[in-house]
Amino acid sequence: MDSIQVQGGTGLQGTVRIQGSKNATLPILAATLLTGDESYIGNCPRITDVYHMENLLRCLGCKVNWENHGLRIQSSSICENDMPAEAIKSMRSSVFLLGALIGRCGRITLDYPGGCVIGERPINWHMSALEQLGVRFYQDACGLYAVTEGLHGACIKLPFPSVGVTENVILAGVMARGQTCIVGAAREPEITSLCDFLNCCGARIEGMGTDCIHIWGGRPLHGTRYRMEADRIVAGTYLFACIAAGGSCFLEEAPAHQMAAVIHVAEQMGAWCDISPKGIFVQALKKHPVLNHLSTAPYPGFPTDLQSVVLSVLTANEGECLVEERIFENRFRIVEELQKMGASIQILDRHRVLVKGGSILQGTHVEAKELRGGAALVVAGLMAEGNTVIEGKKYIYRGYENICRDLQELGARIVSV
Ligand code: EPZ
Repeated sequence: MDSIQVQGGTGLQGTVRIQGSKNATLPILAATLLTGDESYIGNCPRITDVYHMENLLRCLGCKVNWENHGLRIQSSSICENDMPAEAIKSMRSSVFLLGALIGRCGRITLDYPGGCVIGERPINWHMSALEQLGVRFYQDACGLYAVTEGLHGACIKLPFPSVGVTENVILAGVMARGQTCIVGAAREPEITSLCDFLNCCGARIEGMGTDCIHIWGGRPLHGTRYRMEADRIVAGTYLFACIAAGGSCFLEEAPAHQMAAVIHVAEQMGAWCDISPKGIFVQALKKHPVLNHLSTAPYPGFPTDLQSVVLSVLTANEGECLVEERIFENRFRIVEELQKMGASIQILDRHRVLVKGGSILQGTHVEAKELRGGAALVVAGLMAEGNTVIEGKKYIYRGYENICRDLQELGARIVSV
């Protein structure tokens, strides 16, 4: 079966180690293509999206092997094969291959990367940014082609601090002749990790973590060893799970320094958080959180990837809470499933919902339709009375190594079936 069963009503207690960051690992795996050398990426999360990227790298001729919870990648002899379209479509992260492969091979044939239920995920900004670096795109019924006679630096002003576009410009910019600056760059920790990795490989990138990044292109790159930081979204998921179920948990390796906005919201909802370089200790003091407004925003604002999880917790809120989703245009698919459990949520428009708190969720059959919505249904199951069956666990395993194992370690009554 493809489902997870949760028996609600049990508080959480104990310690759980947080896995490596999915959204930092994927662009770094793409970046290994640029070195033509061997790299070892430690603390890689064992999740479906990483397995897909592993498959894409192998399709391109890389040698890729798991070694002590990390990936060893040799990219000395690659050729731009026709990558299997289903592999490309199956994940959004293949879009990073645009910047990496155009930098390495000068041409690439890509299927349109798969979108998902949270939005159509266009790549118009990726294309316009790479065109400024000397890439020409053309398309036909079979797909999208990119080619360049040679990348050159440029000053690129982004219309929005897109994470993926910033990453693609960095991946192409390190291979371009001359200097590239990105104005209005994304500031997410995943960008900083990618730039740190590339600088370890011999690149020269400055300004990461700010909205203005400077790249000195054309420097020779070599392999390196690099260890992924813990996943701030997985850490946030378990932090809100503790608030939802009640109890006290230690989130080992949680990157507290990347989670200020998340911790602020958790404390507004009544949690007590103690942060240290080793992780985050969270204690849920109040059964009924109190929050009357939440808005997602680009980093360092509240992350869109935790919006659905907080929506689940807010069903027990004292009073009403307006939730605004400012990054994606269709990230409220979970509302329908929470309503099946007895939640009182009104969809105002594509970007706003009003959660009327005070609900006591009832366990029932619900369906995960995408990664973070699936995780949010697990959190709802922890809060609910009775047993909740969540179909579509494959979506959850795209980003969580083993959510059942992790939450069992905290005392939850949860099984994968
Ligand atoms: C990354 O997606 C993450 N994925 C997402 O995490 C995350 O939600 C998102 O950044 C925002 O933080 C990975 O890192 C693999 P964007 P990305 O470009 O790069 C629009 C998860 O659950 N847009 O910052 O695709 C886009 O449609 C995933 O781990 C265009 O219009 O996000 C969206 O509305 C979900 N045209 C907005 O920008 C473009 O060319 C922000 O997207 C590109 C993006």
